[in-house]
Amino acid sequence: TMGRKFFVGGNWKCNGTTEQVKKIVETLNAVEVPSSDVVEVVVSPPYVFLPLVKSLLRPDFQVAAQNCWVKNGGAFTGEVSLAKMSNSSVLGVVTIAKMSNSSVLGHSERRLLLNESNEFVGDKVAYALSKGLKVIACVGETLEQREAGSTMDVVAEQTKAIADRISDWNNVVIAYEPVWAIGTGKVATPAQAQEVHSELRKWLAAKTSNEVAETMRIIYGGSVNGANCKELAGQPDVDGFLVGGASLKPEFIDIINAAT
Ligand code: G3P
Repeated sequence: TMGRKFFVGGNWKCNGTTEQVKKIVETLNAVEVPSSDVVEVVVSPPYVFLPLVKSLLRPDFQVAAQNCWVKNGGAFTGEVSLAKMSNSSVLGVVTIAKMSNSSVLGHSERRLLLNESNEFVGDKVAYALSKGLKVIACVGETLEQREAGSTMDVVAEQTKAIADRISDWNNVVIAYEPVWAIGTGKVATPAQAQEVHSELRKWLAAKTSNEVAETMRIIYGGSVNGANCKELAGQPDVDGFLVGGASLKPEFIDIINAAT
């Protein structure tokens, strides 16, 4: 990972009851993990659990929302503004899902139902950064796009919509999440992940700067678990993980430890 600090995010998606959430936090609080100087850990519960998790979770782990609205309050039924979240100081990082239209798995349900465009995602990233927040920006191709050989074009286009709207990348982590690997148990091979991460880093070097490219944490998401994380973490351009299903289980600890 070339000096880049390993980053592990747990995206709890729409899962958990209050009792389950308390249990997960208890488990996380009890374990010994590398210091936050070595591994950055972020968990992202559903909105309603943000204050609870923030109040109970160990202070060396961060808490992130799963989405944000692009205005500061107002007449936007069903949306949650960043101000609401940061007022209760629950917000470390915003996880923003990259939307695409053609899958029915994992985040793709949201992509399909809410039909968020690259541009809208770019607006959200820019807005969150402008409010001083950190962002995990997710990109990734569908199976059809991969099979059509357009993986890198798709990922570049998604990233470009962000690059067009921001100039300071310091508070951004990019998560490469191939849609076909999300919640399917079909993890990308280490070689497949490495290939996209390295291409994306080259793209960043060409379109932003060498410095951004070299320092950007590009993390992998899609069926990461305790058994496959070590080999993935061994890839030179894989700087961490964004974990769905396994982030609700004790094996999340193994994933946090994957690089050490
Ligand atoms: O954001 C993480 C995610 O989309 C991956 O989910 O369940 O395949 O680890 P999962």
